[in-house]
Parts: sequence; structure tokens; C-alpha cells
Amino acid sequence: MYTYLNVLHSYWAYLTLFILIVAVVNAVSGLSSNKEYTMAKDLRIGLFALIFSHIQLLLGLALYFVTPRFSAWQTGGVMGDSLLRLLLVEHPFTNIIAIALITVGWSKHKKKETSKAKFKSIALFYGIGLALILLRIPYDIWFS
Ligand code: HEM
Repeated sequence: MYTYLNVLHSYWAYLTLFILIVAVVNAVSGLSSNKEYTMAKDLRIGLFALIFSHIQLLLGLALYFVTPRFSAWQTGGVMGDSLLRLLLVEHPFTNIIAIALITVGWSKHKKKETSKAKFKSIALFYGIGLALILLRIPYDIWFS
């Protein structure tokens, strides 16, 4: 179960990051070139990024409780070990906040009336969310 979830969480991360980058670049370019917001393209990109990050969040939450590293909460030493602290505290905590911000951005942008305001909400909230995710990814174990 752990191995399966770990592989899934690890590969799904590529898709999530890719679609989040597409959503942020699309919103920034829509904003800077005063484009009309369309349901067919812009809404879909934002929605896909939202769905992919929510799936990543669910995979992460499940992984958290099955990873063998979780037992370090009983044995102790989580905060004193930089890898355990990253995997069990910083990475999950930062990503939960990031995905909450992405969700807020999605619902805010839906309520906006103008294309400019819609792109702005996505660019801002998805952008901050993406930056937070990138700041606390365990790159060392991801690429090893
Ligand atoms: C968009 C959000 C997220 C991204 C992009 C992401 C990405 C990653 C990546 C790339 C790894 C390294 C996987 C590997 O070993 O190859 C990882 C590990 C891990 N992630 Fe996430 N993650 C996200 C959210 C979360 C959340 C919300 C949680 C928990 C609440 C979580 C829990 C974990 C845990 C526990 C590990 C370490 C598993 C282990 O090696 O035993 N992740 N994550």
C-alpha cells in the first residue's frame, strides 16, 4: 500500500505541477494582454489545476499515515531530523495551505464579473499556491 501510494503521489506531482504552471502562465498572459476570459479554455485550465491539486492532496494525506516514517512521531526525533521534519511537518503543512489558497482563488474568480478580475484571482492565488508547493517539495528524495 505504501509503495503504491508513494509512486502515485510521486508521479502525480509532475502532472499537478505542470497543470498549475499552465494555469498561472495562462492567467498572467490573459491579464497582461487583456484577453477575454473563456469557459472553453480558461475555466477548463483552472478547473483541471484545481482537481489535480486536490487529488494530490488526497494522495498525500493517505500517504502520510502509511509511510514508515510516520512511526517517528512515536519514537521521537522528528523535529531534530531535517528530512523527517520536511516530510512530516513542512511539506504537508505548506501544501495544505497552498491547496487551500488555490481553492480560495478558484471560488473567488468564479464570483468576479470581468475577465481581468478573473485572471487576477487565478494569477494571484494559484501563483502563491504554486510558489509555496515548490518551496517545500522534497527534491532530494524525489529525484533519487
Ligand atoms: C501539490 C501538493 C503536493 C506535491 C506536489 C507533493 C509532492 C511530493 C513529492 C514529489 C514527494 C517525493 C516522492 C518521492 O519519494 O518520490 C512527496 C513526498 C511526500 N509527500 Fe507530498 N506532495 C504534495 C502534497 C502533500 C500533502 C498535502 C501531504 C500530506 C498531508 C504529503 C505527504 C507526503 C509525504 C508523507 C511524503 C513522503 C513519503 C515517504 O517518502 O515516505 N504531500 N510529495
